[in-house]
Amino acid sequence: MPDVKITATRNGPYKVEGPIDLYYGDLRIETDQPTVFLCRCSASSKKPFCDGTHSKIGFQAAAQIVPESKED
Ligand code: FES
Repeated sequence: MPDVKITATRNGPYKVEGPIDLYYGDLRIETDQPTVFLCRCSASSKKPFCDGTHSKIGFQAAAQIVPESKED
């Protein structure tokens, strides 16, 4: 079982559970939280973290998992 679990929440951020090294570009982000929520809508003012703006802007995530493409 992997040490990290990432969940794409419904029309919201990525929920990341477990020990991670987090970088925003070249900047290492220190966090001692066991669970972090990373912005998926690109509208957060606290990137890379979610600040709840996705709800205000009505962010809609992709509705379905994209199936793997088949080789021709
Ligand atoms: S996903 Fe929450 S502000 Fe972007």
